[in-house]
Amino acid sequence: MSLIQWTSFPPLGDERGSLVALESGKTIPFLIERVYYLFGTVQGVSRGFHAHRHLQQVAVCVTGRCRMVLDDGEWREEVWLDSPTKGLLIGNMVWREMHDFTSDCVMLVLASQHYDETDYIRNYEDFLREVKNG
Ligand code: TYD
Repeated sequence: MSLIQWTSFPPLGDERGSLVALESGKTIPFLIERVYYLFGTVQGVSRGFHAHRHLQQVAVCVTGRCRMVLDDGEWREEVWLDSPTKGLLIGNMVWREMHDFTSDCVMLVLASQHYDETDYIRNYEDFLREVKNG
C-alpha cells in the first residue's frame, strides 16, 4: 500500500480563470478544524520533521512546489506537491519532511484538529518506538 494518497480538487473554471472549493466530508475526508499556510520559506530550508499521534491533514501547494517525504516507520516515499488541484492526504503516525520549496511556494494545510503541541512527535527515534509499540 502506498503512503501517497491524493485527493483531487476539481477546478471550477470559467473564462475568468480557476477556482477550487474545499469542503469537509467531500474532497476533505475529515471535519476541518484548522487551516494554516506556509509561505516565504527561505531557500534551502527544510521543514516538518515530525509526526502527529492523532492529527489528519491535507496539504496542497496552491502556488509553487515542494518535495514531501512521508515515512510510516516501515516505508519512506517522496512526492512533489506542485498542483493547486491535488491535495496530499497525511494521516496520523506518519513522519513528514518538506524539502526544496520554490521561493513562490504557498502550501495550504487543512487539519482535523486545533494546534496541540502534545500531539507532535518531533524526534524520529521516539516516532519509531511509538510505531513499534502501537
Ligand atoms: P511547526 O509545526 O514546527 O512547523 P513545520 O512542521 O512546518 O516546520 O510549527 C512552527 C511553529 O508554529 C511552532 O512554534 C508551532 C507554531 N504553530 C502554531 O502555533 N499553530 C499551528 O497551527 C502550527 C502548524 C504551528
